[in-house]
Amino acid sequence: MINENLPKIWYGGDYNPEQWDHETVSEDLRMFKLAGIDVATVNVFSWALNQTDENTYDFTWLDETIERLYKNGVYICLATSTAAHPAWMAKKYPDVRRVDFEGKKRQFGGRHNSCPNSPTYRKYAERIAEKLAERYKDHPAVLIWHVSNEYGGYCYCDNCQKSFRVWLKDRYGTLEAVNEAWNTRFWGHTFYEWDEIVAPNGLSEEWQGGRNTNFQGISLDYRRFQSDSLLDVFKLERDVLKKHTPNIPVTTNLMGLYPELDYFKWGKEMDVVSWDNYPSIDTPVSMTAMTHDLMRGLRSGQPFMLMEQTPSQQNWQPYNALKRPGVMKLWSYQAVAHGADTVMFFQLRRSRGATEKYHGAVIEHVGHEHTRVFKESAELGQELIKLEDKLIDSRVQAKVAIVFDWENRWAIQLSSGPSVALDYVKEVHKYYDAFYQNNIAVDMISVEEDLGQYDIVIAPVLYMVKEGHADRLKQFVKNGGTFVTTFFSGIVNENDLVTLGGYPGELRDLVGIWAEEIDALEPSHYNEIVFERSFGKLSDTYKCNILFDLIHAETAEVLATYGADFYQGMPVLTRNKYGEGEAYYVASSPDQAFVQDFVDTISEIKNLHGELTSAKGVEVIAREKHGEKILFVMNHNAETATFDTGDLTLEDQLTGETYNGSVVIQARGVLILK
Ligand code: GLA
Ligand code: ZN
Repeated sequence: MINENLPKIWYGGDYNPEQWDHETVSEDLRMFKLAGIDVATVNVFSWALNQTDENTYDFTWLDETIERLYKNGVYICLATSTAAHPAWMAKKYPDVRRVDFEGKKRQFGGRHNSCPNSPTYRKYAERIAEKLAERYKDHPAVLIWHVSNEYGGYCYCDNCQKSFRVWLKDRYGTLEAVNEAWNTRFWGHTFYEWDEIVAPNGLSEEWQGGRNTNFQGISLDYRRFQSDSLLDVFKLERDVLKKHTPNIPVTTNLMGLYPELDYFKWGKEMDVVSWDNYPSIDTPVSMTAMTHDLMRGLRSGQPFMLMEQTPSQQNWQPYNALKRPGVMKLWSYQAVAHGADTVMFFQLRRSRGATEKYHGAVIEHVGHEHTRVFKESAELGQELIKLEDKLIDSRVQAKVAIVFDWENRWAIQLSSGPSVALDYVKEVHKYYDAFYQNNIAVDMISVEEDLGQYDIVIAPVLYMVKEGHADRLKQFVKNGGTFVTTFFSGIVNENDLVTLGGYPGELRDLVGIWAEEIDALEPSHYNEIVFERSFGKLSDTYKCNILFDLIHAETAEVLATYGADFYQGMPVLTRNKYGEGEAYYVASSPDQAFVQDFVDTISEIKNLHGELTSAKGVEVIAREKHGEKILFVMNHNAETATFDTGDLTLEDQLTGETYNGSVVIQARGVLILK
């Protein structure tokens, strides 16, 4: 449980009373009660208000705020306010300001703008966190610490450059080892002194905002280093908070598929993962589901927090669609179904000025409760009260795992060739979606995760194979597991150095094939996947594009071949028996029909079946508690749809109604059943 003081799904979100007068806040408190709101995230962007100069701290407004909220039944998710530095600090201490990709020194402005290697930032961020901890350590309102906000962005200043060299010394020991790892004899890059190494940005090795680089080795390491630098400043605050409040959990809000930080590394450092979910109107619901599962995977399946979502619309998309009636509740329960123990919004009240004034909020500019958005929010709030502690701390139990790795993603994106069209997240999502359509739960796992509990492990485009990973995968298959990997896998080690002796390198004996060449064609150009003998649920032909590995079967059996081009007849899908299990290799990027039929087939072979059968667009997933399953049935369609309970009789956890057999679920409806 995140915090025993509030043993239910927390309901609330970001709240900025410092922007409002006393009467408005009184109105808010009245409305929070109507909406069942029991937690407010405060102090996210108040550093300038809390610390007026180097030595003056003033928390009067925060004392009052916390007191008033708590007296009105609202607990506190207490932010440390370090996500935007004060203007006076930027003026007096230029080192807090970042240098951007083009080498420009930033002025004051924006947010999430501090250099993580700035001595000033580190000193004052830690100090204010400590002051907050000392001040509120015994306050019963405080449920959790919310450090900073949405860490992200890279800095290329001199302090970062210097720290990068130290980071490199730490990782490699000697300059010789760095030269080796980055293959610096290429283009005459040999380094003889540490300070010859400069940050890889638009002034040195990279271009197009970092989408391209001349040297993958240094660019990869700079991403690792910047991710670690931000993580270090998080840890600095966390540790000082822990010193004073060892029992209050600490989190920072992550951003799902955000590319720049290695979240698996971050997850290890947090007591509970929290994240901000902002799909747009056309984001596939299975993409949102996958992102929730990824966030759950950061701490090996532990419940996470939905820290932010909008009750209605965003302001920062080109077209900010309203969430259609029912969608806010539906997506909130989708988060819970995938493992969230909180439902929280950005924001509780819409601000009056600046860039987020058109961002949705529970309380809109009109200021009263007679709005569609408020009514929907209040309805959900009341339901969450009714659910008490029935759902919290329950777990999703998955037999399928999909491997996701940020460093692999960086390496693929930084790779010069074979194709700019290769999109790691899309390839991963294809496989995820196929299981999702069958209501089969999936864990999104790191390359370090223990594989013992899984029947099927899929590692799409496992381009980078990290030390020890191939051995763990082999052990998994030896013990009877089914493993799937795809084209452009097993190519490089952690430094983006090619594993010599034929692709897919360390995975070669596991999949029983080798890839001689890789063809890359403009994505509108397709080849065919042809089955000459029937295999499971697969049809005779499918389409594939983007990359085409030209592979030779060694110990593997050929299940399908290319239908065209000069490699017509060469294998495109193979299966290799290995120990007690089998390993498949999918040599090109297949259409979704192939992925679906292929996933259906291997699921059937492994005797894996989804929770209930349901119409398209009706998602079913279970969380388990005390050995009992709680099923979430969610109709993402704008029309009614059906699902089937099979032989089960299920009870609605909100209404007590029971269901059996074929059931109609209303448009965008949610049922929580046991
Ligand atoms: C992020 C931030 C919030 C707010 C929202 C708007 O998630 O954390 O402060 O800006 O976006 O969608
Ligand atoms: Zn910097």
